[in-house]
Amino acid sequence: MDRDELKKRSAEAALAFVEDGMTVGVGTGSTVAFFIDGLARLKGRIEGAVSSSEQSTQRLRAHGIPVFDLNAVGPLQLYVDGADECDPRNRLIKGGGGALTREKIIASASERFVCIIDAAKQVPVLGTFPLPVEVIPMARSAVARAIHAQGGLPVWREGVVTDNGNWILDIHGLRIDDPVALESAYNQIPGVVTVGLFAARPADVVIVDGERRA
Ligand code: A5P
Repeated sequence: MDRDELKKRSAEAALAFVEDGMTVGVGTGSTVAFFIDGLARLKGRIEGAVSSSEQSTQRLRAHGIPVFDLNAVGPLQLYVDGADECDPRNRLIKGGGGALTREKIIASASERFVCIIDAAKQVPVLGTFPLPVEVIPMARSAVARAIHAQGGLPVWREGVVTDNGNWILDIHGLRIDDPVALESAYNQIPGVVTVGLFAARPADVVIVDGERRA
């Protein structure tokens, strides 16, 4: 079975977590695109969505699903999003699509974070996928030097501007044995907006190839 079919299975399985009257937090990426398409079938039963990117907003609106500002709705019951890597303790690398900041905000504002992936994203230790870090543009070099001094190899994702007007460094060469500590350490560097490690607040449920992981 191809990866898109496995992503779609996970996206479809996540629809079981959607309850009547909910405003659903919606992530970003190709797996979430399948989730949005499925959500469209339930649109008469939900209030709407809070979106983590312009890309997801467009897709939600194209299906006629109302999109609300997070400020207007307060805490959410459910957030559904993909990931680039997932370790056995549901800690994630995210941000391959550049939407990490809004994703982390919505994840932290949600009671339950359901992560939808295909099996290829499961890893014993995070770090093979380069870790995205969103930075304020004027701080790019300073942040890169600070991360280099801590043992990472930063590569500027040149030409990419996030929905927040910032830039992204992808950190190569990491073996992240303690993701909570690394997330905290990078968060201390002035100019860092968001670290693409979701470790302090991991996923609550992970669905792999359509099956909920034990
Ligand atoms: C977006 O910034 C990312 O965090 C995505 O959640 C991640 O890249 C997963 O994307 P795919 O579902 O396209 O693999």
